Amino acid sequence: MADKLVVAILGATGVVGTQMIQCLEERDFPVERLVPLASARSAGKTVRFNGEDVTVLEATPDAFDGVDIVLGAAGDAQAKELLPEAAARGAVCVDNSHAFRLDADVPLVIPEINPEDIANHPRNIIANPNCATIIGLVPTWPLAQRAGLKRLIVSTYQAASGAGMPGLRELERESRVLAEGGEVGDTAPFAYQLAFNLIPQIGGFKEEAYTSEELKMQNEGRKIMHMPELRVNCTCVRVPVMRSHSESITVEFERPITPDEAREVLSKAPGVKVVDDPANLRYPMPLDTSDQDLVYVGRIRRDLSAPDGVSALTFWCCGDQIRKGAATNAVQIAEHLL
Ligand SMILES: NC(=O)c1ccc[n+]([C@@H]2O[C@H](COP(=O)([O-])OP(=O)(O)OC[C@H]3O[C@@H](n4cnc5c(N)ncnc54)[C@H](OP(=O)(O)O)[C@@H]3O)[C@@H](O)[C@H]2O)c1
Repeated sequence: MADKLVVAILGATGVVGTQMIQCLEERDFPVERLVPLASARSAGKTVRFNGEDVTVLEATPDAFDGVDIVLGAAGDAQAKELLPEAAARGAVCVDNSHAFRLDADVPLVIPEINPEDIANHPRNIIANPNCATIIGLVPTWPLAQRAGLKRLIVSTYQAASGAGMPGLRELERESRVLAEGGEVGDTAPFAYQLAFNLIPQIGGFKEEAYTSEELKMQNEGRKIMHMPELRVNCTCVRVPVMRSHSESITVEFERPITPDEAREVLSKAPGVKVVDDPANLRYPMPLDTSDQDLVYVGRIRRDLSAPDGVSALTFWCCGDQIRKGAATNAVQIAEHLL
């Protein structure tokens, strides 16, 4: 690849696309030219990049002519339609949608876990995992390497912005309307009012009454960690938090591991910050983890219900799902491509 690259962002006006532009700037990614793409509705708007206004173009196949790297931040349908067009024109695409994640010839990558998979991308497409999967696996992986992974039991507490700009705006709107004593009315994109509430459904219902979001943790986790038999039980909940997903994770290991050993492993793990000081009421919270790239881990303790009492741990983690769960992870993959 050349020293400086033409980088297109498909979905440059959304929550993830906007963050990608910021990440490219912050990480000093060698951009020769930025090509922000979105729907026809946004064509002609501008985005700010490195102190300049750059005009948003309608995402059409020809818009990818001359592009080296595409960062995909649109929905599944746009990704399926447009990224093969970009790839056919020679661009390498790093996509955030679900469209290609489980395809055998598309690597699914968290750079802290399986960077070696990036090299093999025969379709010129590399997939970014689901945001809750990234936030959960970044701290789970180093523990798995120390003690072997048998089973994961996960509950997620996912921010409104996980549903994109419409989700963010809806939680803002509901909070404002309720504070003024009004009725919330239509709650789209959520099925119910989210402010002052929790919604135990993210995605559609699939087999055995699990949601699509819950199955991603299992299916994507198996692919990323190369553990096809991994057992995962996941419950995903939407919570009235603007930004940063939180997760309660119980890990059953092959071998014993103590909370102190886990803290030691995690204190050296890439992408992780241990915040675990119950005596001083210090633990990860979404307000503290927003707008930065580390996954904070705390509340590390033995699972007292484990059969042998020593081979399972429970912990709590929070991470900014727009950054590490999406934009930063994609830019990290692009950095590996360089
Ligand atoms: N939000 C998260 O926390 C998160 C985390 C991980 C992965 N993801 C995934 O990342 C992707 C983007 O999510 P998001 O949250 O950023 O959504 P979003 O805020 O709703 O943004 C969607 C983007 O897609 C563009 N778009 C819509 N229709 C289009 C079309 N026909 N052609 C071209 N562009 C079109 C939109 O452009 P307009 O402004 O012109 O409509 C906008 O830029 C999704 O696949 C999502 O599942 C999201």
